[in-house]
Amino acid sequence: MIKIMDILIRPYQPDDSIPEITALLHRAYARPAGQDVRFWASRQDDAVTEKRLKTGTSFLAVRDGAIVGTISVYGPDRDSPAEFYRREDVNFFGQFGVDPALQGTGLGKRLYQTVEDHCQKNNVKYLALDTCQDAAELIEMYQRWGFKQVDRVKWEVVDFRSIIMAKELTAPN
Ligand SMILES: CC(C)(COP(=O)(O)OP(=O)(O)OC[C@H]1O[C@@H](n2cnc3c(N)ncnc32)[C@H](O)[C@@H]1OP(=O)(O)O)[C@@H](O)C(=O)NCCC(=O)NCCS
Repeated sequence: MIKIMDILIRPYQPDDSIPEITALLHRAYARPAGQDVRFWASRQDDAVTEKRLKTGTSFLAVRDGAIVGTISVYGPDRDSPAEFYRREDVNFFGQFGVDPALQGTGLGKRLYQTVEDHCQKNNVKYLALDTCQDAAELIEMYQRWGFKQVDRVKWEVVDFRSIIMAKELTAPN
């Protein structure tokens, strides 16, 4: 039985291993990639992992010294093809993966909550994400977490269409 609280969630640090994080993402995204959807994170290289980690604010889940989960959150992107991501009051998250051995244990929700807390502290109005329009299970999970579809986008690097989902955050107590 895995005790989830033994896993530390902490900010990414410059001496964390990029190849270890790329390998984790490949493992994490292999399951949806094995279905009809082939997410970019299932095949991205270290340069992409590093750019995505460092462009945003990134968090890692660490267990016994091994990286077992990751998530990154980004400020508005004025050059994004997704109109919603260009809004000044929006942050969006991505590169969100948990080691398959730990999926379904609540770790993903904890990583997500770390990002939501971070955004609330920074008075972000809307937290958003994008996922494949056919990823029904993921879309339902995000709906349970309070997200609604607000936009559509077609990224150049993948062969499927995506939806943008967003959640209005409440001010911290
Ligand atoms: C998405 C992901 C990060 C979630 O992490 P996780 O540790 O598995 O998630 P949790 O255990 O915290 O569960 C999150 C929710 O999904 C549900 N869930 C988890 N595993 C599930 C499964 N196998 N089938 C159905 N629902 C499942 C949980 O019930 C939970 O729902 P709730 O929050 O409404 O109670 C993880 O599954 C993953 O890495 N998936 C592959 C990569 C990916 O798809 N990333 C997101 C791209 S947009």
